[in-house]
Amino acid sequence: MSTSRIAHACVPGTFDPVTYGHLDVIRRSCRLFDRVTVAVAASYGKNGTGPAFSLDERVDMIRGAIAESDIPSDVEVVGFEGLLVDLCHQIGAGAVVKGLRAATDFEYELQQADLNNLMAPDIESVYVMGSREYGYISSSIVRELAALGRDVSFLVPSSIDKRLKDRFGRS
Ligand code: PNS
Repeated sequence: MSTSRIAHACVPGTFDPVTYGHLDVIRRSCRLFDRVTVAVAASYGKNGTGPAFSLDERVDMIRGAIAESDIPSDVEVVGFEGLLVDLCHQIGAGAVVKGLRAATDFEYELQQADLNNLMAPDIESVYVMGSREYGYISSSIVRELAALGRDVSFLVPSSIDKRLKDRFGRS
């Protein structure tokens, strides 16, 4: 296997919607790699009925959230269908970066890392520990609170908060 350094990493996820926790992982990936691409998975089969926001909406929402953050503006955001490792080969990313919040994330992430490694041993899986203040955030919690009409402005950037209000209705 090649021992050359990896310059380009991919930060994948469903991002339904993107949260401060995701943005923390993207920001930290930018410190580790020269080039970062956020890869938004179609995840059509997720949550039974599929994601709450369409793939195009989720891509657009992440671009907006990055624009209103201190994350470097050269971070690319792409949507994809199919396998993550195929996308990595297509865009020339040598690593996948994900965040680990708690031990409960570990088994799921280990399974994905093992599978990706079997399919594409040239792609490294890299994990960053989520910041303490974002450990409890997940997209499903954000969606649930928003659907119940609760304020989620402490969990997501203002542009995402606005989208959630438009989607779920909240004064
Ligand atoms: O935000 P999520 O839902 O935890 O992200 C999971 C994601 C999108 C990274 C994962 O489901 C994925 O890689 N999907 C693309 C399809 C794929 O490659 N599946 C095989 C690896 S499990």
